[in-house]
Amino acid sequence: MRDRYCGTLKKEEIGKRVNLSGWVFRRRDHGGLIFIDLRDVTGIVQIVFSPEISKEAHEIAGELRHEYVISVSGKVDKRPEGTENLNIPTGEIEVLVDAVEILNTCKPLPFQLEDEEPSESLRLKYRYLDMRRLDVKKVFMERSRAYKVVRDYFNDHNFYEFETPFFTKSTPEGARDFIVPSRLSTGMFYALPQSPQLFKQILMIAGFDRYFQIVRCFRDEDLRADRQPEFTQIDVEMSFVDVDDVLSISEGLIGELFEAITGHKLVLPLQRMTYREAMELYGTDKPDLRFDMAMYNLTDIFKGTEFGVFKKTVDEGGEIKALLLTDRTLTRKDLDTSVEVAKEMGASGLVWMRVEEEGFQSPVAKYLKDEEKERIKNLLKCKNGDVVFIMADRKNRVNEIMGKFRLYLGEKYELIDKKRFQFLWVVDFPLLEYSEEERRYVARHHPFTSPKGKIKGLADRIESKDIDPESIIARAYDLVLNGVEIGGGSIRIHRADDQMEMFRILNIKEEEAREKFGFLLEALEMGAPPHGGIAFGFDRILMMLLGLDSIRDVIPFPKTQKGTCLLTGAPSKVPQKQLNELKIRVLGETPR
Ligand code: AMO
Repeated sequence: MRDRYCGTLKKEEIGKRVNLSGWVFRRRDHGGLIFIDLRDVTGIVQIVFSPEISKEAHEIAGELRHEYVISVSGKVDKRPEGTENLNIPTGEIEVLVDAVEILNTCKPLPFQLEDEEPSESLRLKYRYLDMRRLDVKKVFMERSRAYKVVRDYFNDHNFYEFETPFFTKSTPEGARDFIVPSRLSTGMFYALPQSPQLFKQILMIAGFDRYFQIVRCFRDEDLRADRQPEFTQIDVEMSFVDVDDVLSISEGLIGELFEAITGHKLVLPLQRMTYREAMELYGTDKPDLRFDMAMYNLTDIFKGTEFGVFKKTVDEGGEIKALLLTDRTLTRKDLDTSVEVAKEMGASGLVWMRVEEEGFQSPVAKYLKDEEKERIKNLLKCKNGDVVFIMADRKNRVNEIMGKFRLYLGEKYELIDKKRFQFLWVVDFPLLEYSEEERRYVARHHPFTSPKGKIKGLADRIESKDIDPESIIARAYDLVLNGVEIGGGSIRIHRADDQMEMFRILNIKEEEAREKFGFLLEALEMGAPPHGGIAFGFDRILMMLLGLDSIRDVIPFPKTQKGTCLLTGAPSKVPQKQLNELKIRVLGETPR
């Protein structure tokens, strides 16, 4: 139906006859002449209908409306002097049409494809129209290119690609499972994988040495701008490796993706920071290092303070942390607002102090000793005009809230260089974290992650309080880009006895462990090699590298915040017959 693409016609083809097919994008009727921008996957070209060239074609052109699908034949011509459009690749030429066929019509559109930014719900309901817009289309073309970059990279590095089951058993990655009822075994359910974690370990035990997969994962968790219930991972596992091997293979991949998408070379190796350092300095395990502004610890300075709030914190073993904002002029109102913001973030209070010629200006200045003020000045190296923000609370709380407050200051006072891509490895995560909900220690990454050092005897040592569970460090790492976690992994436990010890640490009874992970334990008993790996959030990486704000912008058919698909209407009811076959009775419905 065509011998050329619209967007790639060149001026070297002037004088040639061409056949084109595509959509009517723009249309201008100048009485005698009708101009149409014809669009296909490659872009647009101007086509011209004149009664002098073909009366019949010109008449049909009069019927054309936005997004009609047509096929045309004609001659490539140079555009008349002064009418060129140098903003588009085909802007110096046009096609003089002598025959046209309407292949399909189009109803009036729910939104215009240009000069209008439709609401997200309209975009998702009519995703096919949304995707006709060139900037949206470009995102998915980039996504398609990125798959190839990933596959080429892993093929060049001797990885084998696998597919692992979607109908499987629960893999604990910290979310709820989506489950699928079985008709052949009624009352039984498959779980959709939260990740292929156990299968990739099994493939190492099977001796494949290096595995990768671009794979869909399913997690029933609260949705956010960077979370979807089904999302894509670049999943990786390697045998006979330690942390550095996994990080180095990962950096190679990230470097290639970065260059393919942004056109810039990534400087390797990437920066690394321990979890502890990240928490101490930035109050989060995924610091945004596009701006520095690390926290200062003032706890020592206030050891002998008489200022009530600080004294209480010090006495109770909490911490006093500070942030320094320099080179910005803040009004009294700005300062009051910042206190409000901190409180909304959960702070019980925030102290500000402005550095002035005569000393600190602050509602609390009079309660602080000269020596304390002097030591703060020296530690923070502050100068006139700077503002110091101080918060006192329990260690974890003060870190967490100050971390958020730091981001607030970064945004509000434009400290963040938005053009920058700042990668960071966070390493040495704690192995365990206490779950208030389950009232036991749970694995911070997942239960198959190995600790640094010996695992044997750890359960007893924890029980006899010989070791603080929170001090045990895992061989686990995350990759962070501009404050967003884009990947995470670990070196695994590769011996069955060690894995059982880990289940003991997690307070999972042997019976339960065998029930849930018996197949893994058995496989670990049959010559499992040391192995480890990582998984990257493919959607998140694309979102970040393409400079988009929402993960939905890089997923062809995403779900809404409520987990629905506006295009198809999923989830939806199923016929009673289907429920009967599955022996399922519905006890209630969420009101819509
Ligand atoms: P983890 O749970 O850290 O590790 O997931 C890896 C990466 O997947 C991305 N991600 C998500 N992206 C979009 N929507 C979501 N709901 C979502 N959840 C996670 C993140 C994250 O860094 N099996 C382990 C990996 C391993 O140990 O090798 C795992 O799944 O970018």
